[in-house]
Amino acid sequence: MLYDQLFVSMERARWNLSRDIDFEAIEPAKLTRQWILDVREVCLAQLAALRATEMFLGGFRADIDFCSFVSVWFYEEMEHHLVLRRYLEHLGEAVEETELPRLRVSADDAPAIDALTLRFFGEQRLSQRYAALAATAPERVLGRIFTLLAAGEARHAAAYATYLRRAVERNPAALPGVLRLGLWTMRGADDAASPAAGVGGASRAQPREDRHYIRRMQGLCRLLAPDSTMVAEDELPALRPAAAGAL
Ligand SMILES: [Fe+2]
Repeated sequence: MLYDQLFVSMERARWNLSRDIDFEAIEPAKLTRQWILDVREVCLAQLAALRATEMFLGGFRADIDFCSFVSVWFYEEMEHHLVLRRYLEHLGEAVEETELPRLRVSADDAPAIDALTLRFFGEQRLSQRYAALAATAPERVLGRIFTLLAAGEARHAAAYATYLRRAVERNPAALPGVLRLGLWTMRGADDAASPAAGVGGASRAQPREDRHYIRRMQGLCRLLAPDSTMVAEDELPALRPAAAGAL
């Protein structure tokens, strides 16, 4: 099972909340109010793992391998939540337990492979966001925490990639759907990050950008289906600009 190797590799890479974070060294005066609000937002956003775990355990009920891995992933996501909650406590900004239940995300259930795909991209985005926060954090302990979190999310993305690759191996017909959802997710993330986001709704990629996305789709295709021959642009009909724009 993939879980057997992932358990060991993630165990080796894991940090220790009690041992590795020097909460006593926090320098609150270095943080602006906006930084504290951002840390709080990231801390609470980690609770999305609760709903995702419910979905995975239900959607992959018969896949004992993947459900076993979810136990490790869920543990680490809640550890991310806890380290930030502890950090906030040391700032005198405790998150009250009574405010947590309403924060549980209850998104519509997605088909199992779609949920895997979204998680794979979500972990990559989180890793990039935490790396950016680590690079700009004005306080040393917070920078250390976000560095650990970014590495953790990158490991999660790699683990989800292995399960996504196996899902495609078992059902090659699912690959175009995974690529379409991947494209939609990439464009959504880029639109959200674009200065034009929010003006006139979601922007459409221009032709030059479409080639950029096709290259990324080809990379994703090689990652998920190394033996696939569907790597040439003209063999990705679902990803041509016209079709992709309709997503
Ligand atoms: Fe993660």
